[in-house]
Amino acid sequence: MRPSEPMSEPAAGVRYARVVPATELRDGELLPVEIDGTPLVLVRHAGEFFAVQNNCSHRDFPLSEAGFDPRDGVLVCAWHGGCFDVRSGRAVVPPATEPVETFPVRVRADWVEIGMTGSLAPERGAA
Ligand code: FES
Repeated sequence: MRPSEPMSEPAAGVRYARVVPATELRDGELLPVEIDGTPLVLVRHAGEFFAVQNNCSHRDFPLSEAGFDPRDGVLVCAWHGGCFDVRSGRAVVPPATEPVETFPVRVRADWVEIGMTGSLAPERGAA
């Protein structure tokens, strides 16, 4: 897993962690990343970047080992075939029924940055 780079400037109340140069991922590629010990998977789809938790909501299998179907923009879990829309995190194919957490992603100065919201928010993520 790639450790995250130092955090960038806070923007609109959300802090962003710089994770990888944007040119390092091609469309349809997945990259496991870790921010403050939380595993995520970064996906490039149709020129945009999406970040979701790196744990399938069904049985916790790493989604960084999932397949990716670019026609529907879904991650296909490698264990039981549950599918998740990378844009919303919604479970779209059983046995997965619960969504996976998604995180905002932006590109600044050709770097992909992931917003530290939800379980990554500093007030919740600090141990
Ligand atoms: S662990 Fe992912 S579908 Fe079962």
